[in-house]
Amino acid sequence: MYILGLTTLGDSAAALICDGKLVAAAEEERFSRVKHHSGFPYHAMQFCLDRAGIKIGDVQHVSLYWKPWILGHKAMQAVKSLAISPAMFRARVDRGVAQVSDSYLGMLRLPRMIRQRYGPSDFRFRYLEHHVCHAASAFLVSPFETAAIFTLDGTGEETTTLFSQGRGEQIRPLKRIKLPHSLGQFYSAVTNFLGFDMFGGDEWKVMGLAAYGQPEFYDFFSKRVLTTNGNYDFHVNIRVLDHHLAKRYQFSEEIVEALGPARRSEEPLTQRHQNIAASAQRVLEDVVLYLLEGLHKQTGEENLCLAGGVAFNSVMNGRIINESPFKRVFIQPAAGDAGCSLGAAFLTHNGILKNRRDFLMKHAYWGPAFSNEECAQALREAGLKFETLSEDQVAPRVARLIADGAIIGWFQGRMEFGPRALGNRSFLADPRRADMRELLNKKVKLCEWFRPVAPSMLEEASSAIFGVPRHDPFMVTVFTAAEDQRTVIPAVVHVDNTARPQTVSRDTNPRYWSLIKEFERLTGVPVLLNTSFNIQEPIVCKPQDAIRTFKSASFDALVLENNLVLRSDQ
Ligand SMILES: [Fe+2]
Repeated sequence: MYILGLTTLGDSAAALICDGKLVAAAEEERFSRVKHHSGFPYHAMQFCLDRAGIKIGDVQHVSLYWKPWILGHKAMQAVKSLAISPAMFRARVDRGVAQVSDSYLGMLRLPRMIRQRYGPSDFRFRYLEHHVCHAASAFLVSPFETAAIFTLDGTGEETTTLFSQGRGEQIRPLKRIKLPHSLGQFYSAVTNFLGFDMFGGDEWKVMGLAAYGQPEFYDFFSKRVLTTNGNYDFHVNIRVLDHHLAKRYQFSEEIVEALGPARRSEEPLTQRHQNIAASAQRVLEDVVLYLLEGLHKQTGEENLCLAGGVAFNSVMNGRIINESPFKRVFIQPAAGDAGCSLGAAFLTHNGILKNRRDFLMKHAYWGPAFSNEECAQALREAGLKFETLSEDQVAPRVARLIADGAIIGWFQGRMEFGPRALGNRSFLADPRRADMRELLNKKVKLCEWFRPVAPSMLEEASSAIFGVPRHDPFMVTVFTAAEDQRTVIPAVVHVDNTARPQTVSRDTNPRYWSLIKEFERLTGVPVLLNTSFNIQEPIVCKPQDAIRTFKSASFDALVLENNLVLRSDQ
């Protein structure tokens, strides 16, 4: 039985499961080449069907990650905001009208549109609650039979934070926190205060910058903006910092008085900005730890599943693992809205149709793959000289190039689902070179200087690097690197001595594992620097995307499956 799950607003995506097992999942942005693509995932859905070799007529259930008719609470918030300021009211009404006309009405027409475009089908169409889909996207593919589930994002239909409990196939919501109280919107508003762009997904910049600052404004944020009460609850004071006004780069007098003027995007970053980032980050972490204390007390669970856009805050996740009362934590690689497509499909299979759980998400490789010959053909068409290596030659040749200082565009196997490149669509480089991060950010990725890059390491080597064994195949958690390692792999250790590792297992990605193993054989270091294979656009999907990136940039070599392209040969 086939079930299709869909995400159709920002970060739109499709996921297909067959008899309770994931077959394919991908974000639309990888095909459309528009970052955070918003709109129906035409290409991603077609890819899922093609991958399974089926037509829409073979799909029994289609589930959407949103209930478009839940509008009352948002409307009420807009009315209430009129009492605070006309500008706040206008910002909400403008947004609301756009959402209803562009998005929500379209959702109600989806079943018909899908049949018109993809062909006849008897599928049953369901609208599912956004945060329950987030919860399902983590718990139902986790290794846990029972768990507490915590989902946090900007907002769903009205809920911004959901506390729930998973047992077997069922997810029981325990408590919802609704707009305007939103941890994601709080963080996005700070993102814009610092002159970045929340619509561009710049929240990571606040987190990256936070490592350089001191929490000088902690008291202001925790007492005036994001507050808690004695009931494991939180409150965002929109009179001081309002997400909707922040979208328009408008801020209250009180926040400007407390923090200084908001930064304009072209202004240089100063210590004050870094301190603002550090303060907001710290308050977010502390509030989340407080909420989790409550969830732990309420459920008595030892396992925790996290999802929602804020669950990409890897520094926060590190503190959850180290400081929360939960013993085990699971976060799947598409923790944001794209992952709701996966959640909607599994929620239908397990929660609604009551089928037994039979799937564990061990890896993120659910996107398209291309054969050696398809890659070679693309290279020929692009007029690039290349050498086709035997399977045994790939790891030694590429590891040698990396050890000699080359930056490699590495393309193999199925594309990752979720925003992290995990060794199938990655730029790889030598982590021992202290200047490599700067070189990559400035010359190849065209990214800000403070963007940390991450290590991929042999899973079995993680205890040497962090002092204790770590397991994170999805690169979603930051840990402190052992003291003796900081000078060994300086390019992948952040200014605060932390790193966000991908632990690579031989089972789930043998080819990538072999490459790192070979690098270890050459250098004694079982780690590669890994950052996503993209320059100012979505991660590459097809060989043609990788080739275009190679031609427009200055990295040293491109590996498309077994085909090696050296810049020096061109
Ligand atoms: Fe969400």
